[in-house]
Amino acid sequence: MSQEQLRPVRVGLLGIGTVGGGTFTVLQRNQAEIRRRAGRGIEVAMVADLNTDLAKQVVGDAAQIVADARAVIANPDIDVVVELIGGYGIAKALVLEAIAAGKHVVTANKALLAVHGTEIFAAARDKGVMVAFEAAVAGGIPIIKSLREGLTANQIQWVAGIINGTTNFILSEMRDKGLDFDVVLKEAQRLGYAEADPTFDIEGVDAAHKATLMSAIAFGIPVQFDKAHVEGITKLSATDIRYAEQLGYRIKLLGIARRQAAGIELRTHPTLVPMRRLIANVEGAMNAVMVQGDAVGTTMYYGKGAGAEPTASAVIADLVDIARQLEAAPASRVPALAFQPDELSPLPILPIDEVVTSFYLRLRVADQAGVLARITSILAEQGISIDAVLQREADEVSGEGGNQTDLIILTHETKEGAMNTALAGMQALPTVLAPIVKLRKEELA
Ligand code: HSE
Repeated sequence: MSQEQLRPVRVGLLGIGTVGGGTFTVLQRNQAEIRRRAGRGIEVAMVADLNTDLAKQVVGDAAQIVADARAVIANPDIDVVVELIGGYGIAKALVLEAIAAGKHVVTANKALLAVHGTEIFAAARDKGVMVAFEAAVAGGIPIIKSLREGLTANQIQWVAGIINGTTNFILSEMRDKGLDFDVVLKEAQRLGYAEADPTFDIEGVDAAHKATLMSAIAFGIPVQFDKAHVEGITKLSATDIRYAEQLGYRIKLLGIARRQAAGIELRTHPTLVPMRRLIANVEGAMNAVMVQGDAVGTTMYYGKGAGAEPTASAVIADLVDIARQLEAAPASRVPALAFQPDELSPLPILPIDEVVTSFYLRLRVADQAGVLARITSILAEQGISIDAVLQREADEVSGEGGNQTDLIILTHETKEGAMNTALAGMQALPTVLAPIVKLRKEELA
């Protein structure tokens, strides 16, 4: 059959909010270019949204509008269902029903796939349909495609990314203006950079969902969000951002997946990154992901991680992929998680105590003889080597009358378990006057 004879791929959009609207608009605007690439047209034939008036405003008469998403799934003429509802509830039921009805699925729903991906990918495999999710990680940046296809020759060593724009915006503002987290969060909400309920963003959950998806594709392991270590930025103080800066580091919320011999590190937390790294200079709501592979070395991908058209760019890339592979035998398609589903690795996700990293510690201590010696000897007992020490003059520390000081210690790499043992010992010293701040540091070399 010549390409001219292939009928258009018919798409049903579930949800016509920001991303749905962007997807419709970009598909309309670039349809000729997209057809030249896909070898066939891609048309939005149906839109389901509870707000049918909004749907009408966005798509006019170009597509059938329904309030009931199940009407899209039940329509035998629809080839691909695009799920843009979000969350684990109705979205999960609809994705599974769409798969059961033999539809291919495109979704931007990182939460759904990070938590229920194993069930969803297995259902899709049984049914011989594709589930594509480029838009779920880092919005418009084609990081899924890069990891899954562009870097397919490599043993991936690690992936580390700024994959949440809300928190990167907040951290940039905290550093720029020397403001505390709560103040900047309120401002971010006022400006629309943070949602009214920002919990998933600021607690690191959204970034951890995305890191979980990248870990599966990078290492050929199942998606295991339940084993991810997740810390957000809510406890981060402007003081530590300032001290990090003085030591040549920026603090970024990183989603990290790293291969060790014994297993995979999967963790999201505020991280000190050397200021000279490109990724340390990714500011505002932008996203960036670094990937290190044994053959390619270190690579970095940068762009908008959210927004109507950047996310639509990723959704439509998936639609084009599906259009190209629609008639292909399932076994010859690119596997959803990069590796053949029966070739998954048994490498476990490591508990946080087994994670190897370097640390930033801040201790409020009594400024008297022997304090530093005692602290360094506790670190030495755990085999932890010190990289740098900074002591602020007593009068710089909030007018404590010169008898207290902040001691900032950077360590070399160690297991987190050893660090926690040392921390307990240091915290118990009568000369340590406040809870010790512990942050992880990555050189990303
Ligand atoms: N809320 C996300 C962010 C965008 O702030 O980056 C969607 O994942």
